[in-house]
Amino acid sequence: MKYQSQQVALAYIACALLLFAVQVLVGLLAGWIYVAPNFLSELLPFNIVRMIHTNALVVWLLLGFFGAAYYLVPEEAETELYSVRLAYIQLAILMIGALGAVGSYLVGIHGGREFLEQPLWVKVGILIAALIFLGNITATALRGRKTAVTNVLLLGLWLLSLLWLFAFYTPANLSLDKMYWWFIVHLWVEATWELVMASVLAYLLLKLTGVDREVVEKWLYVIVGTALFSGILGTGHHFYWIGTPGYWQWVGSIFSTLEVVPFFLMMSFAFVMVWKGRRNHPNKAALLWSLGSATVAFFGAGVWGFLHTLHGVNFYSHGTQITAAHGHLAFFGAYVALNLAFFTYAMPQLRARDPYNQVLNMGSFWLMTGGMAFMTFVLTFAGTIQTHMQRVVGEYFMEVQESLSVFYVMRFGAGVAVVIGALLFIYSVSVVRSREIIEPGPMQAATGE
Ligand code: HEM
Ligand code: HEM
Ligand SMILES: [Fe+2]
Repeated sequence: MKYQSQQVALAYIACALLLFAVQVLVGLLAGWIYVAPNFLSELLPFNIVRMIHTNALVVWLLLGFFGAAYYLVPEEAETELYSVRLAYIQLAILMIGALGAVGSYLVGIHGGREFLEQPLWVKVGILIAALIFLGNITATALRGRKTAVTNVLLLGLWLLSLLWLFAFYTPANLSLDKMYWWFIVHLWVEATWELVMASVLAYLLLKLTGVDREVVEKWLYVIVGTALFSGILGTGHHFYWIGTPGYWQWVGSIFSTLEVVPFFLMMSFAFVMVWKGRRNHPNKAALLWSLGSATVAFFGAGVWGFLHTLHGVNFYSHGTQITAAHGHLAFFGAYVALNLAFFTYAMPQLRARDPYNQVLNMGSFWLMTGGMAFMTFVLTFAGTIQTHMQRVVGEYFMEVQESLSVFYVMRFGAGVAVVIGALLFIYSVSVVRSREIIEPGPMQAATGE
């Protein structure tokens, strides 16, 4: 860590980890309700539990991205952050908004639009926080060295913030409502967040493998190009059955199939960089998370996405447990694991300690990744049976659900492994007191940081 202002990332990571714990614990509760459907039904209905689970996920991932930007932009730009105070104000607004949203959900106040359930004042708060962030980080980037990593990161963050404006528009027509809804939900995870992922991954690989910047930049541009080319019209895979014209079935099928390409490239990129790299960086756990993220993202988003993206398949599988299987592995691989890779890389430096707690951290990688993979498999089996019985044979939804109960028990078991892994991760990066750095440790010596 070269710049004092990078330290603000620590506060972002701490808040992100707190919400991460809430997210997976509440997920476990949602998983239990699938096993015992009446559990807490009067006190805390399933729809509210689900809302807290998915909202906490998105908010902590964004906090992680903001933290990553505050950490890596000063270093890339070779200058202190424009304003540390603004960064803390932004964090405070986001945390008050997050608490406010959870509080509203608990008393039954919400907008009802999946992922965008936040009350209006929280949405406005998020917008103000995003504006503060964009101003702060852009001012920092402009006054220093310009690199491809910061350019791509800023492009992704600007575009995703602009897309947030659609959260304020809810047309009365249900087809139009869905169309604009996907402009956020799809164009976040399958276009703009991909740019954030590619740039953070590029930064980590630069640091961890010591490969030449020129090589990293070439990969980065190709990944960005293919992500935007495929992802924008790929939105069509959500326009099959919402009342939009029929040509979307072809546009969506073709372009969303191409969406596999950037995820394949990111995985190849990660492995080729490690293969070509000259640096033997001591933070092996951060490298494991980086490679793991790119790999699981390829399977979760690329393979499990393609599985149900062609309109002929989606006609049957739409909205079944297959969707939930894909949603979990894609979010985990691409954005959860990437954030955890960054936390694993940055935490030892932010806390001025050598990364001697790596065994625990790597253990948490295998527990979480194994748990998520198992959860994906059982939900895929459940979804296949559901698709057949409900959509082909034509049985009633609730009767089919009854016969899937064994899978929901297994999903709960997988969830327990994920939660233990998550708590272990948090412990490994924040609580474990590894050796304090008095002189530069092997990690600082290896990277010159
Ligand atoms: C970091 C790990 C996790 C991520 C990234 C994640 C992500 C998600 C996402 C994106 C959704 C919405 C899915 C959709 O719309 O299809 C969801 C719903 C859900 N998640 Fe998780 N989740 C995680 C951990 C867990 C855990 C540990 C459990 C425990 C069993 C769990 C259980 C559920 C349940 C029951 C739902 C509701 C599914 C439904 O409505 O049918 N999740 N999660
Ligand atoms: C990291 C990237 C991705 C993430 C985080 C992600 C996440 C999700 C989530 C949460 C849903 C459920 C939305 C809802 O209805 O509530 C979903 C739906 C869907 N995703 Fe993805 N996805 C990603 C990439 C992809 C890719 C690359 C493809 C295609 C190759 C794809 C194909 C689909 C399709 C077809 C649906 C609709 C499923 C249905 O009809 O029920 N996704 N995705
Ligand atoms: Fe999509």
